[in-house]
Parts: sequence; C-alpha cells; structure tokens
Amino acid sequence: MSLSNTHSNVCQCSSNYNNTDSCYVNLRFAGSNMAMSWVGFGSFYLLLAGLIIGALRSCNGGISSSSYSRSSGISDDMPLNSDVFALPPGYNSPQQVHITQGDNEGRGVIVSWVTPNEPGSIVTYKYYNYSSPYIHHCTIKNLEYNTKCFYEVGTGDATRRFWFTTPPEVGPDVPYTFGLIGDLGQTFDSNRTLTHYESNPIKGQTVLFVGDLSYADKYPLHDKNRWDTWGRFVERNVAYQPWIWNARNHEIDFLPEYGEGEPFKPYTHRYFVPYEASGTTSPLWYSIKRASAYIIVLSSYSAYGKSTPQYKWLMKELPKVNRSKTPWLIVVMHCPLYSTYVHRYMEGETMRVMYEQYFVQYKVDVVFAGHVHAYERTVNPQPKYSAFREPSYGHATFEIKNRNTAYYAWHRNQDGYSVEADSVWFHNLYWKSSSVASI
Ligand SMILES: *[C@@H]1O[C@H](CO)[C@@H](O)[C@H](O)[C@H]1NC(C)=O
Ligand SMILES: *[C@@H]1O[C@H](CO)[C@@H](O)[C@H](O)[C@H]1NC(C)=O
Ligand SMILES: *[C@@H]1O[C@H](CO)[C@@H](O)[C@H](O)[C@H]1NC(C)=O
Ligand SMILES: [Fe+2]
Repeated sequence: MSLSNTHSNVCQCSSNYNNTDSCYVNLRFAGSNMAMSWVGFGSFYLLLAGLIIGALRSCNGGISSSSYSRSSGISDDMPLNSDVFALPPGYNSPQQVHITQGDNEGRGVIVSWVTPNEPGSIVTYKYYNYSSPYIHHCTIKNLEYNTKCFYEVGTGDATRRFWFTTPPEVGPDVPYTFGLIGDLGQTFDSNRTLTHYESNPIKGQTVLFVGDLSYADKYPLHDKNRWDTWGRFVERNVAYQPWIWNARNHEIDFLPEYGEGEPFKPYTHRYFVPYEASGTTSPLWYSIKRASAYIIVLSSYSAYGKSTPQYKWLMKELPKVNRSKTPWLIVVMHCPLYSTYVHRYMEGETMRVMYEQYFVQYKVDVVFAGHVHAYERTVNPQPKYSAFREPSYGHATFEIKNRNTAYYAWHRNQDGYSVEADSVWFHNLYWKSSSVASI
C-alpha cells in the first residue's frame, strides 16, 4: 500500500490499495515512540492448557500440583446467543476482525475481517452446504515501528474502528512480552482464559497462538458457522494485538465422505500468515522476527521427515538465525515433544526424534506447544523432565527483558489476575553459553 505522509504523525492508506483488497484502512499514526511496557520468556518445552513448553534447563523439578483438580472433563460451549458471539449492528457491518504480523520484521500487518452482504475484493470458500461470508485480507506494509495505528474497516455507514501498536525495531536487547494461548475453542472456559489474559497485569503485546482455534470440527458436519462465532468471540483481543497463528489438528477439518477432502481449508482461507516472507511454500510453517525474538512456527500435521519441504526449509532456516540480532529463538508447534500426560501421550515422539537434535544444536530457547489441554513445563531430558504439571486451564506470558534474560509465568483461570501458578527465569542459551560475539 502507499502511505501518504500528510503531516508528521498522520498517515493515510490509499483506498486503492495495491494488494488483495480495496481496503478502507485509514491509518492514523498517533505519535511514535510509544511508551513500551516490558514484555516477556527460555529452551523449555511448555504445554499450556493446552500449551507445553519444554525446557532444556537446570532441573529442580517434578511437581505434580495437587492444589488443583478439574471439576469435569468437559467444558460447556457458550450458547449461540451468548454476548461474545453478538453481531455488530448495521447492514454489512464488518465482523471477526483480526490482525497478525504481515512481513518478516514487524513493519507489516495483515488485517482480516468478514462482511456478510457485500463482497468487495475477497476470499470465499464453500464447505459442503456452508458458504463462507466474504473474507477480506489486507496487508499493510512499511509501517513505522513503535507506533499506535488506528484502522477502520468496512464501507458506508457500517465502518468500525480499531487500533494496534507496531512492535519496536528488531534488535537484541529490546524488551517485549508475548502472551501464550492455545486450544482455545468457544466454551465458558475459553472465555475465562481470554478474560484472564486481557486482565493480566503483565500486558502481553502479541499472542503466540499454539493452535486449535475454533473446534468447529467437533460439531455435526463440522458446523462452519462455528468459525464465524469464534471469529466474533476473539475479536475483542485479536483486533488490537497480533496473534501469531499456528494450525493444529482441529484445523485439518476435512470431511472426505461429504466431498471435503482439502485439509486446513477453513483455516487457510480465514487466517493468512506472512509465510512467503520467510521463503516457505506453505502457510503451515514459517518464521517471523519480532522485537528480540526469532519465532519459528512448525506444523505437526504436515509431513516433516527428511526430504519434505518443511524439513528442508527448517534446515536452511536454523543456521540463518543471527543471535546478535534476535537472541531469543522460539519454536511454536502444536503437538508437544514432551508430555507426561496419558492424554496424547507420545504423539509428538516422531517429531522429537527428527527435530530435537537441531533444537539443541541451534540452542533453541523455548518450544511452546498445545494439544493436551493441560499445563506442563519441562526442564532437561528424561527421566525427571516434568518440572511442573497440573490439568488447569489458563494462559502464559513470556517477558523478554534483554538478550540474557526472560521471565515466564503460567496464569490459571481460577486464580486472581496477577497470580502466577508457575514461573521461571530463562537465561538465553546462546548468550549464556558462548563468548561468541556474533554469528
Ligand atoms: C465472556 O467474558 C466477558 C469478559 O469477562 C464477559 O463480559 C461476558 O459476559 C462473558 N460471556 C460469556 C458468555 O461467558
Ligand atoms: C446442511 O446439511 C445438513 C444435513 O445434511 C442440514 O441439517 C443443514 O440444515 C444444512 N444446512 C444448510 C445451510 O443448508
Ligand atoms: C548479525 O547481526 C549483527 C547485529 O545486527 C550484525 O552486526 C552482523 O553482521 C550479523 N551477522 C551476519 C552474519 O549477518
Ligand atoms: Fe490439538
């Protein structure tokens, strides 16, 4: 897009946007040099309710928390007439607004939304007897760093306004806080998780989403309306801060017996990611840089053996990470490499056998995963690798302080907003172990 800088702090996105959409994004830059809040997290494997974080760190562990036990195995869905699913008022009013990083270094944002009545330039898909609404994706590039941007989507009377803050420029000692959410769904517990994340005094600036979004596939005929309700539910957060997407088993979402044989169809139409910018051929695995972090998103549900595109890409990607520029090397995947829970036990084992050696070799600081719907943090290899586990729901935060340290905390839904049920300091694996100045 072309940004015309009319005067110092005001930019407008031209309406004949060069990209996929005739995108009414009126961007106003409300002053640069925003005050930064500190952000946050090291080689850990973390499973967060549904996330597993693994750590290859010094071990003091083995806690299986007894202070929490889950009341029932099943979370109740929020009914379709719940407030969180309400349609915004007005004809053709845009809904399900969500943003994600739109380039490799954080100066781009992909803004996506859905309109029910009027197309514009859009993406749609059909799924058995469901036709998606009009899905709009708009990539804004070359934004200033550290800037609050207001954007407006929709046409005519039905426009809606949101804002986001661009990240600081990529650099080694830039503090930045990531939130970690996964396996979210749309139950009452999902709403509690999101509310806790929003109310956490450690303010996450960007969510690393470890997969399993709407769980539409668990409804009869994979009820695609549940992608729409989920989009409306999470809008209250993802319209204001980017969620870095990772597809999981519930996004495979195919139904061959009804002629729906294309895996990941709803997910890939609705959630765009900047995969081309990192040289991959699939939106299911890619990398971005953000502040002081280099984030590699892998697909547990795509082929990953030797000679597969994903493997070949990763082998080229890992040596490219310059730890003098991005000290924190984070891997996000869905299926944990380590988990001591019976549920999903060893599902990540073949990927662990393939990839763990490279994570160790390249000093990956932390691996975030989901899938198990329970919390676990591991340090060090077996047999005592489970440092903390309990079947709680919640979210986590990873606050990068500088190139050496980051602080990770697990926040359970049943606790007060500022309570940390589990926390650990990370010491950057590259910087702590080497006297190497740069790579
Ligand atoms: C979801 O959480 C929000 C924020 O706490 C609350 O306002 C809303 O009523 C909740 N909705 C449901 C259906 O639980
Ligand atoms: C789709 O088909 C299912 C059963 O085949 C039916 O119950 C449902 O009402 C149909 N939906 C639409 C929108 O036609
Ligand atoms: C790594 O990044 C540092 C800091 O930006 C830079 O000085 C150095 O040249 C980079 N190394 C390579 C191999 O690009
Ligand atoms: Fe899963």
